[in-house]
Amino acid sequence: MPTTRQTRNRYNRIAWLYDLMEMPMERLLFAPWRRRLTTVVEGEEILEVGVGTGKNFSCYPPGITVTGVDLSPRMLERAARRARDDGASVNLAEMDVQQLAFPDNTFDTIFATFVFCSVPDPVRGLAEVRRVCRAGGRLILLEHVRPQSSLKGFLFDILNPLTVRLTGANINRRTPENLKKAGWKIRVEENLKSDIVKWIEAEP
Ligand SMILES: C[S@@+](CC[C@H](N)C(=O)[O-])C[C@H]1O[C@@H](n2cnc3c(N)ncnc32)[C@H](O)[C@@H]1O
Repeated sequence: MPTTRQTRNRYNRIAWLYDLMEMPMERLLFAPWRRRLTTVVEGEEILEVGVGTGKNFSCYPPGITVTGVDLSPRMLERAARRARDDGASVNLAEMDVQQLAFPDNTFDTIFATFVFCSVPDPVRGLAEVRRVCRAGGRLILLEHVRPQSSLKGFLFDILNPLTVRLTGANINRRTPENLKKAGWKIRVEENLKSDIVKWIEAEP
């Protein structure tokens, strides 16, 4: 299991290549899923966790300001450039989701796309996100997870060390279970691609 420092270093190393590496999947699958954020992100105080290079900026609803955090300064540099290009209103900060520097009950909507596959301690990260979410607020996740079938699950477990090494992402995270462990109540769990990529909405 990579440490937080190793995860930061890994994303710092691949930041320059990240958009290129993801381009085929982005074009084939991810882009329409991201666009759904436009219709569900709402409220005064909004947090995006693990903004990466800022691929969601063009999907922010018009007129909102978002606080965007990420562990990797190199990913954030790219996000800052993209925010200028896209005209996105986002306040970026280097921060670890496992230890957020925000008071309790701060945000109305918190969202993350393909992030909790790489957070070293996902339950701790999800508990921190719950701490800073207001009562009546909402968490929205787009995540790939470990498939249910025992054969596919086993294959994902075998391949996981390789994907972590190459991309920083664990492909066998049990994110719905991790959400429950962190105290979230799942309200929507929709399979977007088989039972591997999910759209999840949860309440604290
Ligand atoms: C696979 S990328 C996804 C980036 C972006 N959300 C997207 O959809 O393209 C994972 C991102 O999560 C960030 N990340 C990993 N662990 C984190 C942590 N503990 N706290 C904050 N960000 C983290 C990484 O630096 C990286 O930018």
